[in-house]
Amino acid sequence: MSKLLLAAAFAGGIAAAGGGWLLWPAEPPEPPERSAAELMDVVMWGKEPIGGPFSLVDHTGTRRTDADFRGKLLLIYFGFTYCSDACPIDLQSIATALDRLGALSEAVQPLFITLDPEKDTPEQLKSYVEQFHPRLIGLTGDPRELRKVARAYKVYAAKTAPAERSDPNIDHSSLVYLVDVAGKYVGYFPPGTPGERMVEVIRQQLATVPR
Ligand code: NI
Repeated sequence: MSKLLLAAAFAGGIAAAGGGWLLWPAEPPEPPERSAAELMDVVMWGKEPIGGPFSLVDHTGTRRTDADFRGKLLLIYFGFTYCSDACPIDLQSIATALDRLGALSEAVQPLFITLDPEKDTPEQLKSYVEQFHPRLIGLTGDPRELRKVARAYKVYAAKTAPAERSDPNIDHSSLVYLVDVAGKYVGYFPPGTPGERMVEVIRQQLATVPR
């Protein structure tokens, strides 16, 4: 192939991959990214299993796996620390729920899993989660492992580059996932669910746990 043809083929490849500027560069063994609509459909109608094991690093630099949290009701949220839209609102609702639960909140563990491990180092996560609640744990880690966890939870995430902004934003689904004390996915709170509503559901869920 001539140099010119090679260049054209290369440019074509970039254009094909650039349809949605995906959050992470695709590596061959990983499944293709799915659209926001497809993923929402899967979650809303329970078409596929949701959740799964993970091994990540928390905001203190300690490795944490899903098994570490058995016995706690988990509230799992995916986002990124410089998000100016959904993340602060939903994390505030989670914080409100924990405060309203009082002593019962000890049975609940909220987790904030980053969609941008490049920027969200443990240090960055630490200063972020502290703004919301002392019990909130931030998780980051190997980008490939994070992609695996996001896929397991059917999270939509794609970098967008608005012309008026110098820093890329990440479009992402913003559900709060509820996982029971045995590590089994229970359901999700839609975006914008108030903390008070979370409290109702959490109380019902904890009432089913044998003590
Ligand atoms: Ni966000």
